[in-house]
Amino acid sequence: MSLNLRYMRLADIRQVAAIDVICFEPPWSCESYTFEINESRVSHMVVLDQQTDQTLPLPRPPQSLRARLRQRLLGDAQALYSRGAILGYGGLWKIDGEAHISTIAIHPANRGLGYGEILLAGMFGKALQLSAEYIVLEVRVSNAVAQRLYQKYGFSRIARKKNYYRSDNEDAWDMRVALDRDTRHRFFQLYETLRRQHGFSDGYSHASRPRG
Ligand SMILES: CC(C)(COP(=O)(O)OP(=O)(O)OC[C@H]1O[C@@H](n2cnc3c(N)ncnc32)[C@H](O)[C@@H]1OP(=O)(O)O)[C@@H](O)C(=O)NCCC(=O)NCCS
Repeated sequence: MSLNLRYMRLADIRQVAAIDVICFEPPWSCESYTFEINESRVSHMVVLDQQTDQTLPLPRPPQSLRARLRQRLLGDAQALYSRGAILGYGGLWKIDGEAHISTIAIHPANRGLGYGEILLAGMFGKALQLSAEYIVLEVRVSNAVAQRLYQKYGFSRIARKKNYYRSDNEDAWDMRVALDRDTRHRFFQLYETLRRQHGFSDGYSHASRPRG
């Protein structure tokens, strides 16, 4: 089983949209994801996936002559099934000196295991790779879990945006972190700790954006 951070692909949209619809009201449309992946020049969408190699037991020996011949031709190799599941996803826009985290979510069944932090750290690293000066995001004032995650990475509340969420008029905190020397130093320490804890591969934060 391996954890991988990588750029989101068109083939991921179904799984991503299925998580999105559970997490956000309103969710993004599939067309929005397609646009972000294929067309937007400022967007860097990411997924965290988990690959599972599962070796299935050999089937019982076939009884008929025809089946026995077929098995001999194919050999006795066990079937190896490789299954990938998306645990969560995120989005980052880079415009001039600003990196903007547009979205981040982990499937509810997989929360509290460090995966949201891996996504945030991936986007933080991407912002550094793209030479952003600061990172900004909006978060519901009631979303204490997400705020705590952001604070861990140096974000602080800058302004309260009244009635920011149209679905229910809840206010948002505008949170920011300046990517100064101390923040970078702290980030690299957190990132190394995460890598040691989870052993994930990162094909996102230092990678070039694939062509749509
Ligand atoms: C916010 C979210 C991405 C966090 O993902 P997660 O995988 O559950 O979080 P992690 O396990 O990686 O935890 C990372 C940090 O988040 C905070 N956190 C996580 N669960 C928490 C909880 N139950 N209570 C308080 N803080 C919590 C902690 O700071 C934690 O760091 P720590 O373990 O060192 O204390 C996830 O809760 C989610 O998808 N929420 C729904 C979508 C959403 O609200 N997105 C944010 C939009 S702005």
